[in-house]
Amino acid sequence: MSPADIVLLPLRTFHDVRGDLTTLEPDDGVVPFAIRRVYYIHHVPTGVTRGGHAHRALRQLMICLSGRLDVHLDDGRGRVSVTLSDPRVGLLLAPMTWREMNDFAPDTVCLVLASEPYDEADYIHDYPEFVREASRIE
Ligand code: TYD
Repeated sequence: MSPADIVLLPLRTFHDVRGDLTTLEPDDGVVPFAIRRVYYIHHVPTGVTRGGHAHRALRQLMICLSGRLDVHLDDGRGRVSVTLSDPRVGLLLAPMTWREMNDFAPDTVCLVLASEPYDEADYIHDYPEFVREASRIE
């Protein structure tokens, strides 16, 4: 992966003197998949790394609602990192992307929209196995 492979989608935000309001709708043409699950990560202790897996089919959009975190993405050929801190932007996570998240600021809240219900069978937890499966693509 190279930095050009990082897809940051601007979300629809209404800004006025009262602050910002950001919207997401299933058919708004912004999220490039049907949203079938929503979860959020919060109360992450300092120094923790989360993730450490890939998904075979799942597509996700990660939005840092508050605070900041670093996301490290790896397609089996290269690794790139991005810092998320803007709730007006979503990071698209393609299938077969190994991801790790760390450097969470205190009180960070990270929202994730997912294209499928939770399915443990879609996970790859073993990095060598991920590299093997990724090498069969293309
Ligand atoms: P995990 O995938 O380890 O989180 P992260 O990718 O942030 O490291 O998930 C933590 C726990 O939550 C694990 O026991 C599985 C469970 N879980 C669900 O039950 N449903 C979900 O939608 C998700 C994402 C996780």
